[in-house]
Amino acid sequence: MVDPLLMIPGPSNPYPEAVKEANSRFIPHYGEEFLKLYWETVNKLKRLFGTKSDVYLYPGQATSVVEMILNSILDKGDYIIFIGRGFFVDRFRRIAELYGGKPVNIASERIGSRINVSELEYILKSIAPKAVFLVHSETSTGLLEDIDSISSVILDNTFFIVDAVSIFGAIEYKSDEWRIDACIGYSSKALGALPGVTPFMLSEKLTNYILDRKSHKGFLNDLKTWIEYKDLWKHHPYPVSLSSPIILSIKGAVDRILDEGIKNIEYRHRKISKLSIEYASSIGIEKLPEDGFESPTVTVGLLNNNYDARHIAEELLKNYNIMISTTWLIGLNGLRIGHMGYNAREDYIEKTYRGIEEIIKSYK
Ligand SMILES: Cc1ncc(COP(=O)(O)O)c(C=O)c1O
Repeated sequence: MVDPLLMIPGPSNPYPEAVKEANSRFIPHYGEEFLKLYWETVNKLKRLFGTKSDVYLYPGQATSVVEMILNSILDKGDYIIFIGRGFFVDRFRRIAELYGGKPVNIASERIGSRINVSELEYILKSIAPKAVFLVHSETSTGLLEDIDSISSVILDNTFFIVDAVSIFGAIEYKSDEWRIDACIGYSSKALGALPGVTPFMLSEKLTNYILDRKSHKGFLNDLKTWIEYKDLWKHHPYPVSLSSPIILSIKGAVDRILDEGIKNIEYRHRKISKLSIEYASSIGIEKLPEDGFESPTVTVGLLNNNYDARHIAEELLKNYNIMISTTWLIGLNGLRIGHMGYNAREDYIEKTYRGIEEIIKSYK
């Protein structure tokens, strides 16, 4: 059986360079060779995050890192603003509540549109929250929020946390310029490596805030542990074991991205996103996100009620061996088509929409 083509919003098919690197050696997560690989990878990831601050590699899923950040920052009763609408914003808002935070949601007028930044600015000044949380590319709706405008109104004493999970590796990231305090990526979405590791960056401001805290708020689930171990064990600057094959794959993917050039990578993703929207529109699928703010990594489009999104996705897999997703997470009748990392390619997009078109025609 041939593996399906993964035109889903992650995981994506890894870059061949990532797979090659992962298969090249098997080494433990410490020792001279691993440390060299680790620091080289971390330093290259800093370029992708657009930061001079520290970057960490967490051996687990992105949600664990978000949970750790919320646990580390929030004290009981702290306000935290969650920007926008969608599945992931809702999930993280609920997690903030579990850690004693008081989430305030600034919702957009409709699913798929940007928030009103003046409203954010007004509420920021009224409640002076501990943090603002932004899902930059909301994978459930296909919206890429307007991070430039949002970052311009964040207050100096508010932490700015950004979930870049489904966009990291696809565009030129500017964590320092956008004054981000914590930015969360992922290994197997646009970064194009193997799944299972979450790279994240922390600003100096947030690092100092955490270090100034007297006690820990857990062990693995507290940023303080990760920050302290960076200097505590020089031969093992992380508190637990790491997966060397995945980190090798990240190195392979990052080298590939830097070779292609970050600006070229962004151009390729934006071009493919435009093409995807054009194909969708040509077969009657209406894109959900607002004009000019479509995520370069995922197209979310709604179907008219003559068609059943889940049926189309099942048929595409069965007859064309192409996997796509649906908008089930937000309860709409639509498709979610991922085009990230290695899979941001014209031939893959064309093949995917040709299949969808045939299935739609077979309805008639
Ligand atoms: C925007 C966004 N945030 C967070 C997550 C959660 O990632 P994980 O499953 O690695 O916890 C996802 C997963 O698709 C995502 O798309």
